[in-house]
Amino acid sequence: MNVPIVRTVAQLHATVAQWRREGASVAVVPTMGALHEGHLSLVRAALEGADRVIVTLFVNPKQFNSAADLAAYPRTEEEDAAKLAPLGAHLLYAPNATEMYPNGFATTVTVSGVSEGLCGAFRPGHFDGVATVVAKLFLQTGADLAFFGEKDFQQLHVVRRMARDLDIPISITGCPTVREADGLALSSRNVRLTRAERRAAPKLASILFEAARQLSEGASVSQIISEARAAILAADYAQVEYLELRAEETLEPLQALDRPARLLVAAWIGETRLIDNVKIPQQRTKGVLQTAAMATG
Ligand code: PAF
Repeated sequence: MNVPIVRTVAQLHATVAQWRREGASVAVVPTMGALHEGHLSLVRAALEGADRVIVTLFVNPKQFNSAADLAAYPRTEEEDAAKLAPLGAHLLYAPNATEMYPNGFATTVTVSGVSEGLCGAFRPGHFDGVATVVAKLFLQTGADLAFFGEKDFQQLHVVRRMARDLDIPISITGCPTVREADGLALSSRNVRLTRAERRAAPKLASILFEAARQLSEGASVSQIISEARAAILAADYAQVEYLELRAEETLEPLQALDRPARLLVAAWIGETRLIDNVKIPQQRTKGVLQTAAMATG
């Protein structure tokens, strides 16, 4: 069966109101389309958590830094709908830009702190665009639950902070990054890679995992980061925007592994910017799980 598609806030409200009368709980999976297995894993998690699942498809102009990037973003609504149908998603909400941002729209949601640095430093305004549209999607759907991928780890923090600060009553779940068999994190941007770039691209993940392993064993943070940065550049990546160790819970920059942490990276291969992150494994010491103690920076 096809997944029903609605394009207006009014249609969305009517559908959700009917579900609420039936006593159903509602989850939302926000996407910009070009759905891949990573998105589908979020939909599956949402279907486990709620009676009804809305997938949103909106290529949000406010979160793109360049008009060329926005124009090049894949738009594959028919294929996306076909991928959702067999999973049993209940609704595809695909508004156009005027429905989302009607004439005179003048509000921006800015989340300070967690949106600064990392992608925020290289994509000015990006997280304002994300926070604004996700706040609208939360309010438009009135969902109880929302599901986001951990691949966009900073985005997950921004969205959580925004919902908390604005008292939007929604529970947000971060789901693990889905990877190709060779380790490359799934991304809608992967289709832009040339054959040669696609062959080289998975080295980013393998370098990240190896660095995380060494950090978990107590290696020096600054040394591992500088070695990993050099390895990424040697692996056909043109530029490393950032490679940083950040606290898992707060996203604070860390010079030493003194709490649960993640290593996050953004790097360019050819014309394509890829991001990835891995959690630093915890070491098992005397039968107790602990984060490896105090590697000095
Ligand atoms: O992660 C994405 O695809 C987008 O940033 C999101 C959350 C759908 C907002 O446009």
